[in-house]
Amino acid sequence: MIVDRQGRRFRNLRISLTAACNYACTYCVPDGKRLVAAQDELSAPAMVRGVAYLIEAAGIERLRITGGEPLVSPKLEPFLREVGTLGLADISLTTNGQLLARKLPLLLDSGVRRLNVSLDTLDSAAFRRIARGGDLATVLDGLQQAHAAGMKIKLNMVPLRGVNHDQVLPMLDYCLEHGFELRFIELMRMGHLAREGQTFQQQFYGMSALLETIGECHTFVQAEAPVDATALRYEIPGQGFFGIIANQSVPFCRTCSRLRLSSTGWLHGCLSSSNRHYVGDLLDKPRHQALPALQRLLVQALADKQELAFSGGVTVMKIIGG
Ligand code: 5AD
Repeated sequence: MIVDRQGRRFRNLRISLTAACNYACTYCVPDGKRLVAAQDELSAPAMVRGVAYLIEAAGIERLRITGGEPLVSPKLEPFLREVGTLGLADISLTTNGQLLARKLPLLLDSGVRRLNVSLDTLDSAAFRRIARGGDLATVLDGLQQAHAAGMKIKLNMVPLRGVNHDQVLPMLDYCLEHGFELRFIELMRMGHLAREGQTFQQQFYGMSALLETIGECHTFVQAEAPVDATALRYEIPGQGFFGIIANQSVPFCRTCSRLRLSSTGWLHGCLSSSNRHYVGDLLDKPRHQALPALQRLLVQALADKQELAFSGGVTVMKIIGG
């Protein structure tokens, strides 16, 4: 097992099925142009081999499928059908929900029982301004269908001052009412936001502002969370839970157990590092050749992790979401 000085190891893998997305969220892409799939995207069988090799070489136990937007990828079905046979403890998926209703039978059929759905507002005009694609009512319908089918659902909201911070309480009430766990993600200095310090400062709406706003209407207590969780969890007794992923206010690098594989075959050990390690070529090799080489790269990827806090990254969520 590869472990670093702080006792960190890779346990959770996030695989970006595609860089393509049917949204163009303001905090993700600066120019409003939708992202398309890379020319040199890995095939579904190569990705499945990647997961299998990483289970062995790194001790991966849990998988999250991300994007771009994973539900737009034609690889979703072949990937899910195979990856379900690898013995992972958990397979979950992060999506913007636009295609959720349509893909729900496939997800259920493949054993996916947990979803994180990104939704920043319940106001349709604000939704169009932020996501610059898709349609709010379609997402809400997908959420209802997935919930009715027994999916465990968390909603991700990135609160932005002056853009959707007025939605903090409406989103929380909606989630409490429907049995979804809302997770506020503090805005991260990624991609263009790493360069545009002023936009970041203006829009950042962090943990203390969130707790103050929520405290105006609800009483809450801190709740238990796994050691390597990214979210601080709170319980509103009798009503439900919410969480805050406080990258900035309460960094969680010390306990980070995440490894990311991009849709084009690059391993990322840390979202806040521009280092990445190409493994696409190894995925075509037989196991006995691939594993030792992969292990060497995993040592480097683990060393890319920040000691303490996210310091702003060149890596962008749009290619390696979540
Ligand atoms: N800061 C915080 N969250 C972000 N996401 C994408 N970019 C950023 C950013 N710069 C969120 C998406 C999605 C999750 C995978 O990450 O909204 O919910």
